[in-house]
Amino acid sequence: LNNGLALTPQMGWNSWNFFACNINETLIRETADALVSTGLAELGYNNVNIDDCWSNMKRDDKGQLQPDSKNFPSGIKALADYVHKKGLYLGIYSDAGVFTCQVRPGSLYHESDDAKLFASWGIDYLKYDNCFNLGIKPIERYPPMRDALNGTGRKIFYSLCEWGVDDPALWAGKVGNSWRTTDDISDTWESMTTIADLNDKWASYAGPGGWNDPDMLEVGNGGMTYAEYRSHFSIWALMKAPLLIGCDVRNMTSQTFEILSNKEVIAVNQDPLGVQGRKIYAEGTKNCSQVWAGPLSGKQVAVVLWNRCSEVVNISADLGLLGLDKSAQYSVRDLWSVSIFISNL
Ligand code: GLA
Repeated sequence: LNNGLALTPQMGWNSWNFFACNINETLIRETADALVSTGLAELGYNNVNIDDCWSNMKRDDKGQLQPDSKNFPSGIKALADYVHKKGLYLGIYSDAGVFTCQVRPGSLYHESDDAKLFASWGIDYLKYDNCFNLGIKPIERYPPMRDALNGTGRKIFYSLCEWGVDDPALWAGKVGNSWRTTDDISDTWESMTTIADLNDKWASYAGPGGWNDPDMLEVGNGGMTYAEYRSHFSIWALMKAPLLIGCDVRNMTSQTFEILSNKEVIAVNQDPLGVQGRKIYAEGTKNCSQVWAGPLSGKQVAVVLWNRCSEVVNISADLGLLGLDKSAQYSVRDLWSVSIFISNL
């Protein structure tokens, strides 16, 4: 979407993957504090995104959305002010249907009112879900909120969460700053790898202003091993996926922090060229040995050698398949072990 945002994929944190509906204003404030104190904010994680369950079960007498009075007693504007003072952005969540997925009021047919309300609170980012949609196609339900957000005059990142319904990559580039390409991720190797493969199909549609969204990160939530989370993060970075942390950043292990804070892997994701890396080849009977790669600015190429199985495999990246000149010399750098060597391949 040509609204000046999302020149690189969005980074930040979202409440859903770890907290689901167990959210409140203290958690959001403490998360903002933790993003700053751990240094993650400085590395680019600057969106603090509240997901479903922030709102009351009903609109107020005037038909306006209102925050849950028990969990967000100070209101959303106060939270936005708090987060802004830390140099961060505040994101909120609604739904292109009559209810959100957790049956709070949705924004369908209230787009203009709700967008104005979000803007008046100082909201910077909207994730817009797809539940209770009356069977109306996403391509009809998502543009009205784009126009409503645009009409507020405030720059608000627009994240479509239509779960990949109706192949959004084909139409959402003009509607939102990112669009979900799949169903929800869960914290397993099976889910993460399946989603990566599905998202790969749409690589050519991503670019500055609009990104494929294979859903938020599960790194640090406990369902995968350290090596599995490292590949999750590497492949999300290469695919130019949003890097939205989904764990409790107030209580991260050092391994989780090490993965999320790898500057050079983040730089692959945030590279200004903005080309989504893709699966170049897979070999072996179970396609265990995979090479995923994509171009970066400054004549660089990012390559992921991805072992998709539990046995040890040898993986080699063929220069020809990477689109590189076989007679040239390259400097190769392992972004995880930080070793450098020059190779005449
Ligand atoms: C849907 C979305 C999730 C999350 C939940 C909240 O499942 O895809 O990302 O927002 O709703 O209810």
